[in-house]
Amino acid sequence: MSKTGVIGGSGLYEIRGLVLKKSKRVNTPFGRPSDQYLIGEFGDREIIFLPRHGKHHNIPPHMINYRANIWGFKKLGVERILSVSAVGGIRKGLKPGDIVILDQILDMTKNRASTFYDGEGGVVHIDFTGPYCPELRRIFLKAAKRAGVSVKEAGTYVAVEGPRLETASEIRSFGMLGGDVVGMTGMPEASLARELEICYSGVSVVANYAAGINRRKLTVAEVMEAMKASTEKIKSLLKETFALIPEQRKCACGEALKEARI
Ligand code: HPA
Repeated sequence: MSKTGVIGGSGLYEIRGLVLKKSKRVNTPFGRPSDQYLIGEFGDREIIFLPRHGKHHNIPPHMINYRANIWGFKKLGVERILSVSAVGGIRKGLKPGDIVILDQILDMTKNRASTFYDGEGGVVHIDFTGPYCPELRRIFLKAAKRAGVSVKEAGTYVAVEGPRLETASEIRSFGMLGGDVVGMTGMPEASLARELEICYSGVSVVANYAAGINRRKLTVAEVMEAMKASTEKIKSLLKETFALIPEQRKCACGEALKEARI
């Protein structure tokens, strides 16, 4: 039975058809993951959840143990990871509540442990031309249609270190570089998954206009309302995605290390 991981907020577990069976604490050579993994079943598929910021949302983005989180999934036998994250909207037309199926990454993080290959296991350079699994991306798009959830079909995720938000000038520059949304957790999650030959795909929910994008001041109440409405949409999207994931992978993610070693 193939195993699929979901990294996201803890509001995503209550999905009709998903039966949660147990939670599991996992130790890794890199320390402890953000929390226990919650293991469930959806039909004949095993789904394993991890709240990225911990169950009580007390781990800030720059303190997340990304290596432990991804290693833990690998240890549990996960072959695919669906990542859900909140972002600021940069691209014109994006507004709070919009859902973006990501297809590219601009990595602006600076201080994170971002590889499993520090020399001991050999020198490894994974191909990262397309950072998200193309097969999972296609499944997400198909699932969105089936669920009747409107999504933006592509988007470049700018990963920043945080925890501070950006300056207006930074956001303007990211926009000129082709960035569509900005968030603090998308990297190194994506590349670490590739290093362990796990498929990884990202769906982002626009929580706010990125700094300086909108002159109108956004209220917290508006953002909370948009996020609440989109949680229901994300849950429908995940439900259809689980149902569409095939047993066998046809993408190249499972062989990412094949020609990556020196
Ligand atoms: N910037 C960075 N990360 C974020 C934002 C933002 O505006 N919104 C949600 N996560």
